[in-house]
Amino acid sequence: MPTTGLIISNISQLVTCKQGFTGCKEDEDSLGFLENACVVIEGEKIVWVGKQSDFKAENYHFSETIDASGCTVLPGFIDSHTHAVFAGSRDDEYEMRISGMPYMEIASKGGGITSTVMAVRKASEENLFTLALDRVNSMVKHGTTTLEIKSGYGLTLEDELKMLRVIKRLDESADIDIVPTFLGAHEFPPEYRERRDSYVDLVIKDMIPAVSEENLAEFCDVFCEEGVFTAEQTRKILMAAKDAGMKLTLHADEFAHSWGAEIAAELGALSASHLGHASREGLEAMKNAGTIAILLPGTGFGLGKVEFANARELMDMGLEVALATDFNPGSSMLHSLPIVTSIACSFMKMTPAEAVRAITLTAAKALAREDEVGSIEPGKQADIVIISSPSYRYVPYFVGGDIVERVIKKGKVIHTA
Ligand code: NIG
Ligand code: FE
Repeated sequence: MPTTGLIISNISQLVTCKQGFTGCKEDEDSLGFLENACVVIEGEKIVWVGKQSDFKAENYHFSETIDASGCTVLPGFIDSHTHAVFAGSRDDEYEMRISGMPYMEIASKGGGITSTVMAVRKASEENLFTLALDRVNSMVKHGTTTLEIKSGYGLTLEDELKMLRVIKRLDESADIDIVPTFLGAHEFPPEYRERRDSYVDLVIKDMIPAVSEENLAEFCDVFCEEGVFTAEQTRKILMAAKDAGMKLTLHADEFAHSWGAEIAAELGALSASHLGHASREGLEAMKNAGTIAILLPGTGFGLGKVEFANARELMDMGLEVALATDFNPGSSMLHSLPIVTSIACSFMKMTPAEAVRAITLTAAKALAREDEVGSIEPGKQADIVIISSPSYRYVPYFVGGDIVERVIKKGKVIHTA
């Protein structure tokens, strides 16, 4: 008789997000629903999924049962784009922005990313770790079970390594999996503003080899944008990272068309984020290359913008769309994926089903984790969220509601409301 740790039974609505659906215009069926369902977990893995009436208790020996009647059970949420390691605060900039000053203007006056860089350079590794662990634990309460975190507030070899070591420690200490991304090309630090190509050389010749030597990053990202890294500089950095064995992603076309989408497709990046000003050709190229669009509605919301990236158009073109928080102290002080789905449904015209898919299976694909997480299927890691609502639609619908009842990571309950 197999031994089993945990049974989730009498589930009112089970959303499996099971693999095998390719179309982007998803009707509800494509989320793989089951009513009055049951999920059996053995150790870290899901071993059985089906109707409660087909469940044979005598086949299993289990130590714990969760009765999920009245609840919806979903795959653990996956946040594929964050800057969750930082020091200091930019609450003053928030007030400047809502009174009308543009993000890029604040940045050009020494605020923006540079102000967080100054705070991170001063902070010890220990201090950064403690601050970030608190944030990660808080994200778990909103259902996040896999989390990508970028460096990019150090911008010296030493400070970038410091951030990446913090991210590594978080992965070892937190209850959830953390995916590390090197973002040394997040901004030009003040000491290199007048000699930008020398900073690009530093990233390529010193930082990428050191990061790869310590095996500290799975992805490399670049902020490809007017006034920040040019298309040519972006291409050079990403090619060096690819040669060093890193997977690629980009901050692309956020404020202006900057050729980010085109470069993402050309270099085979797994994903590109923002894309509010991407060209139709760039998006077509991304679609053909299989690059996933990560949309970040919390950023538009945080910047007080009325225009959001056109998720509907992207999905209708056939692009796969993931949603993420972009959690950072400047443009998106938001770490709840459910709230991100609320903004996406209200302002980007995604359906609740598409939004749920975008924070589970598609987000897993964006992080190259779709064989392990992102859906509730036998053989997958038991990363599961139980919400105290009768339908998955409550994820976007109950804006900021305390609906996350339990969070399960690798078969262990890591949060109970
Ligand atoms: O994705 N656009 C660049 N990077 C972040 C903002 C980081 C910050 O302002 O500190 C973003 O929005
Ligand atoms: Fe970002």
